[in-house]
Amino acid sequence: MRYEKIILSSISMYVFLLITAPIVLQAEDALEGKVIFESKCGQCHDISRSLSKTKNLEEWKVTVQRMAKKKQGLINKAEEAKIAEYLNSLNKK
Ligand code: HEC
Repeated sequence: MRYEKIILSSISMYVFLLITAPIVLQAEDALEGKVIFESKCGQCHDISRSLSKTKNLEEWKVTVQRMAKKKQGLINKAEEAKIAEYLNSLNKK
């Protein structure tokens, strides 16, 4: 009986992690994008320059890539994607 309980609670713990892990990771990604955006995209102009714009994910990717090219080594590919996703997540469309 005791073992059944242990196995059952292990399974429910596993299922719980399976469900919550992607949600937590997604939230972390968005937070990471925010932090990178605020630290790197405010160096040449105010971040309000971006925050006042509404673009979809594709448009943000193009803009972020264009900005990244202005200063070599400031923003890497992985950061570009996170910044674009964060900016896109702000869309009120
Ligand atoms: C090396 C300096 C520099 C950095 C770093 C930089 N920008 Fe810019 N940004 C500019 C300049 C210069 C302009 C105006 C000329 C132009 O549009 O290319 C501009 C214009 C913009 C515009 C208005 C034009 C448009 O296409 O909508 C947005 C939005 C923008 N930047 C967002 C960002 C974001 C997001 C980041 C971070 C990924 C960033 N910038 C990082 C220099 C920079």
